[in-house]
Amino acid sequence: MTARILDGLVAAASLRSNVKRAASQLRSEGISPCLATVLVGDEPSSALYVRNKHKAAADAGILTRDHKLPSSCTQRELLELIETLNRDTEVHGILIQLPLPTQINEFLVLSILNPVKDVDGLTPYNAGMLMSGKAILKPCTPAGIVELLDYNKVDISGIDSVIVNRSTLVGKPLAFLLLERDATVTVCHSKTKMLVDKLKTADVLITAVGNREHFVLTADMIKPHAVVIDVGISRYDGKLAGDVDFENVKEKASWITPVPGGVGPMTISMLLKNTITAASLKKEMNNRR
Ligand SMILES: NC(=O)c1ccc[n+]([C@@H]2O[C@H](COP(=O)([O-])OP(=O)(O)OC[C@H]3O[C@@H](n4cnc5c(N)ncnc54)[C@H](OP(=O)(O)O)[C@@H]3O)[C@@H](O)[C@H]2O)c1
Repeated sequence: MTARILDGLVAAASLRSNVKRAASQLRSEGISPCLATVLVGDEPSSALYVRNKHKAAADAGILTRDHKLPSSCTQRELLELIETLNRDTEVHGILIQLPLPTQINEFLVLSILNPVKDVDGLTPYNAGMLMSGKAILKPCTPAGIVELLDYNKVDISGIDSVIVNRSTLVGKPLAFLLLERDATVTVCHSKTKMLVDKLKTADVLITAVGNREHFVLTADMIKPHAVVIDVGISRYDGKLAGDVDFENVKEKASWITPVPGGVGPMTISMLLKNTITAASLKKEMNNRR
């Protein structure tokens, strides 16, 4: 059996056309959805991610603001910029490109970000809302994974899922989103014992390691007919690659995401969707006044 492809480009295109329509509707009501990005330093992959986000936003009819600070910037300078964007009534969404340079306390920076503008869903407030099952702005990559499953009508209620990642960006929020959908969730990481035994229990397996020297998901590690979702991004043989040995795993899985063209496009689309949600929240707040 060859797995069916969970095509992120197709699902993302559908999502983006909905976003475009919603942006146009908001504009007709006098609100121009606007996303501000903050990039600290000149790390090439972070700069590329930000450029891609600007392009996707522009294509969807969302205005963008591009804020760049040097890698030597102080924590105070970054906090001041975020406070300015928090106050700016024309800005609906703020995205701080991570990771930040080591002199900056990432948690503190995320803590001062206005939760209603937190289009990455990473502030402590929104993380708590996610845990309570009440989040409005959900982290983009985990939310994009759930959206991709929904788009392909892959039902995860009651299934055994395994996530290989425990970061606040991917693994932890994804665990809550899968629990919300009634999946049973196991979260694994670099210290997990008997990792392969756990992987083999998964009906849905999500891997986000991003380092093929440390971990590659091979066909012998999965349960037959598993749904395999590859979040990892690394360079392998001079090309962009995920964590999965795609050619062999696709012969055993029932569904599989490619890299590129799987989770990546969903992440950007969820960012656009969150920006529209944030702009709509602003509209609601205006209406209440
Ligand atoms: N496609 C997208 O849109 C998208 C979005 C976000 C991230 N990503 C990619 O996803 C990957 C993870 O991102 P991240 O920010 O979550 O990175 P991260 O914080 O470095 O997380 C990596 C995770 O992998 C675990 N790990 C490392 N080696 C392992 C091993 N040998 N066995 C089992 N687990 C192992 C780590 O465990 P410990 O916690 O014990 O260290 C950690 O939980 C990266 O490649 C990133 O580029 C892609």
